[in-house]
Amino acid sequence: MISTDMSSTILNLLPPDHPWGQHIIHLETVSSTNTYAKELARQGAPSGTIVIADHQSGGRGRLGRSFSSPPGLGLYFSLILRPNCPPEKLMYLTCAAGVAASDAVQDVCGIQPGIKWTNDLVIEKNKLGGILTELSIDPASRSVEYAIIGIGINCGQRQEDFPPEIRPIATSLHLAGVKVECATLAAALIRKLFDMEARLLTQKDRIMADFSQRCITIGQDISIVRGDQVQHAKALGIDEDGALVVQFPNGSRSSVSCGEVSIRGMYGYL
Ligand code: BTN
Repeated sequence: MISTDMSSTILNLLPPDHPWGQHIIHLETVSSTNTYAKELARQGAPSGTIVIADHQSGGRGRLGRSFSSPPGLGLYFSLILRPNCPPEKLMYLTCAAGVAASDAVQDVCGIQPGIKWTNDLVIEKNKLGGILTELSIDPASRSVEYAIIGIGINCGQRQEDFPPEIRPIATSLHLAGVKVECATLAAALIRKLFDMEARLLTQKDRIMADFSQRCITIGQDISIVRGDQVQHAKALGIDEDGALVVQFPNGSRSSVSCGEVSIRGMYGYL
């Protein structure tokens, strides 16, 4: 169901005539804002279209995981971009979105979340939110037809609002001591993502330097999980495409890309 209240609140918080202001869709409930945005993109929705929901019944994360999205407690946000470039140029899009999301939280709440490579926002060793980017490639031109950047941020959850299995690792802005309106956070996110898009293809080095600065995985002993396989390594840094550079106990090094692996600390989530 489409409702307009939150869209107009967000609009009032953006500079007048913000290019993305006319394309904010606010839904009370949806299975996943990313899935909804994808359908809109397929139907030709312009770059800068934003879908926000109060509730997701099937919020999705990386590697087929679910993202807990209880009504009225989190920001569930998806943005359609049409960057018109080959997909290889967007390998670090999740990193760029992570920096924008972390900076939006800093602007509104005065807390700078760290980023657990590659797509989790973290406060004090617990997961505050996550990013799910999805690309559609035009087979004829081999360029990106559209990109969906999905961002979920836990705002008002108390411990008991999280499913029991994620309670030990989840946090929210409320639990971090900050009271924030989703619309205020959404407006900050829109401003940061708009700046990010303007710099995306020209300031890669700066974006990746910002990502590395916020990335809490660097320097840690980690487990790399690929299906059933687990390998131990030390995270050394991030390469220019956003892959994690790791060193194995035998001294060999490798770049791990985010497609198929998840990373855990040796003794838990971080
Ligand atoms: C992850 O934890 O792996 C990423 C979570 C991404 C969640 C956001 S919420 C808005 C958008 N819609 C979804 O279904 N997923 C993303």
